[in-house]
Amino acid sequence: MTATSAPAAALLGVYARVGPVFAGGDGAELIAEDGTRYLDFVAGIGVNALGYNHPVIRGAIERALATGLIHVSNLYRSEPGERLAEELVSRSFADQVFFCNSGAEANEAAFKFARKWSGKPGIVAFSGGFHGRLFASLAATDRPEYRRPFEPLVPGVEIVPLGDRAATERAVSAGGKKAGAVIIEPVQGEGGVHPVDPAWLAWLRQLCDASGAALIFDEVQCGLGRTGTFFAYEQMGVVPDMVTIAKPLAGGLPMGAVLLKEAIGSALAPGDHATTFGGGPLVAGVALEVVRAIAAPEFLAAVRRAGEWLATRLERLATCRRRVQGVRGRGLMWGIELTEPAAPFVGSARERGLLVATAGPTVLRLLPPLVVTLDELERGVAILEGVLE
Ligand SMILES: Cc1ncc(COP(=O)(O)O)c(C=O)c1O
Repeated sequence: MTATSAPAAALLGVYARVGPVFAGGDGAELIAEDGTRYLDFVAGIGVNALGYNHPVIRGAIERALATGLIHVSNLYRSEPGERLAEELVSRSFADQVFFCNSGAEANEAAFKFARKWSGKPGIVAFSGGFHGRLFASLAATDRPEYRRPFEPLVPGVEIVPLGDRAATERAVSAGGKKAGAVIIEPVQGEGGVHPVDPAWLAWLRQLCDASGAALIFDEVQCGLGRTGTFFAYEQMGVVPDMVTIAKPLAGGLPMGAVLLKEAIGSALAPGDHATTFGGGPLVAGVALEVVRAIAAPEFLAAVRRAGEWLATRLERLATCRRRVQGVRGRGLMWGIELTEPAAPFVGSARERGLLVATAGPTVLRLLPPLVVTLDELERGVAILEGVLE
């Protein structure tokens, strides 16, 4: 089933691309050039929440194109971005939204907003966290192999052990420390799919309130329906000052956003931050439809049902496959912790027609499209059972 082709030599080699050349997509399946169909439990690393070729996205793109307005400068007003901002505000704690083009860009923006609002330069992040690969977001990302070649990174960013109250207090507020931002993923994705303890988030909330730091939830991977609620924080009982989102927001078109409270937004003035493309009418028009589709109560209920089904099947897998140490996740975001390196199993699953990813060295990660059916989940889990035999 492996239809490998020569690597594209003209592409910079920052990705070790493997497997076939993909030429199409349909629902939860990717279709290779030779017509082979792959069940896709990677979904663009969480981007393709509505799967491939979804009528909502097709329709939104066609309607946007009909206006002739793919881009208009942020120097002027256009309706889709304003309506999308209103929609996101109405579905969250936030009063305002800043649009950009990716997850890392959203986090970089949130760091700047926190600094301007708090007047304090420090940023605190946590072990196991991933926030992107631009300079400040990389400084907040706990992956030494990604960081080392690019040091010195942005100064003033400290990564502390997740769950260590004394170290966190020291970094945020003790001894004259001046952290204006604390960033955390409510469910860590790249770090191995770890749902964070809600009690820890509640404690962080108190610490940030007491010390005047902005609490930023990075929901780039776990947000927008992935865990079975529109935002992951809704399940944690803790409300942040800012939340960053991206991946599935515009149905596969590049878009990120920072949602923030007015108290922080009022510290920002024209010129403090900018983006040429962010929130343009085409992406915003598509995102508006994606957001409405995902936020529909029956859609989220179906994600929760599928997630419960998957949880039960994966827990069973953990008991009947010796190389599976445990499984963790929420909704349709799952990690399978193995007793050995996970990468070879990604290859053998692909050979059997299933795409999965890793999340760190020993974790297999499943991020199926949120529209995946129980039949497709069953097919995928059966392939996993086979490769983990
Ligand atoms: C939690 C989280 N934050 C930020 C990012 C960076 O997003 P982007 O690749 O769109 O810059 C990612 C990407 O995987 C992510 O998972």
